[in-house]
Amino acid sequence: MPFLGGVGAKFSHNLCFSLLSMVLGEACSIPNDDTLAGKAKDPAHLYQQNMIESIGSPEEIVKLKQSYGAWMVDLGNRTDEKIWIAEHFTGHIIKEYQDLNALWNGNYTTIELPWSYYGCGHAIYNNALYYQRVGRNIVVKQERNQERKPKNCLSIGKCSRMYLFSTSKSYFSIAVDENGLWVMYLSWPDAHIMVAEVDEETFSVLRHINTTYPQSKAGNAFVAGGVLYITDKNHMHVAFAFDLLLSPGSNATLVPVLAMLSYNWLNKHLHTWEHGFLIQYPVHFLV
Ligand SMILES: *[C@@H]1O[C@H](CO)[C@@H](O)[C@H](O)[C@H]1NC(C)=O
Ligand SMILES: *[C@@H]1O[C@H](CO)[C@@H](O)[C@H](O)[C@H]1NC(C)=O
Ligand SMILES: *[C@@H]1O[C@H](CO)[C@@H](O)[C@H](O)[C@H]1NC(C)=O
Ligand SMILES: *[C@@H]1O[C@H](CO)[C@@H](O)[C@H](O)[C@H]1NC(C)=O
Repeated sequence: MPFLGGVGAKFSHNLCFSLLSMVLGEACSIPNDDTLAGKAKDPAHLYQQNMIESIGSPEEIVKLKQSYGAWMVDLGNRTDEKIWIAEHFTGHIIKEYQDLNALWNGNYTTIELPWSYYGCGHAIYNNALYYQRVGRNIVVKQERNQERKPKNCLSIGKCSRMYLFSTSKSYFSIAVDENGLWVMYLSWPDAHIMVAEVDEETFSVLRHINTTYPQSKAGNAFVAGGVLYITDKNHMHVAFAFDLLLSPGSNATLVPVLAMLSYNWLNKHLHTWEHGFLIQYPVHFLV
């Protein structure tokens, strides 16, 4: 069951301050020329894969004022009912709700981030918030506990002058599925949708995958069962399915989506943020 709660704890402010010189990333106004290193995937890693057959009817969760934002649950913890909301496409405050009732009642606590986030593509996974640091090609891993980790900032790709998905005003979109953590970003200057497979523990990139799908045709995207699904510009259909584990894709039908699109593999629902409505859709897989 999703959305069943527990006791909250604050994210700590222990992140990247001491690590600036090590993993600074680029200031995103100045693109540079570093090349993407493709690494072979670890043959010992067991991947899970299945294809979507159809997507069910939307269920509206709540209506908020902002047109942009992200709503999140911990994609690593089935029993955690908490819901986090990052309003707008930039800010440094995350609202934490104990459960769905707290969301409906507007009863929340706030988490202040050391750096502002950018976009609507954040994710929470195993007690850590992953988000793009504003103005940098850096994904930050903000953990809830106080323990300092040697590396909490990951520089991915090059600074792009173009959004990954223009309607969500995001340069990165972070996804979690049965296989772990993925970061979608744009290659620059050729502007294709790329996916980095990220090791959660070491917080490092295992592989960079070029989906060969041009940004100009992409509406939004999510990862489910080892497959990347990219919607068309009107968010009406899945226009492209790319096998991140390398086998052929197929089409599925989708519903209109605006700012945010994220798949919750724990309860097999898509989460969206559409004109301020927080909505979820059940996803049915081919068996
Ligand atoms: C998962 O969430 C529940 C409820 O908040 C919590 O009690 C439990 O410690 C969490 N599990 C992990 C591994 O963090
Ligand atoms: C708000 O949530 C807290 C727990 O986070 C709870 O103790 C408090 O009673 C709630 N307040 C209202 C008005 O529901
Ligand atoms: C990605 O693939 C496209 C299409 O094959 C190609 O034009 C582009 O140069 C590739 N980009 C990178 C960074 O590999
Ligand atoms: C996927 O969609 C494209 C374009 O709409 C269509 O040409 C193709 O036949 C579809 N493929 C499958 C497997 O349904």
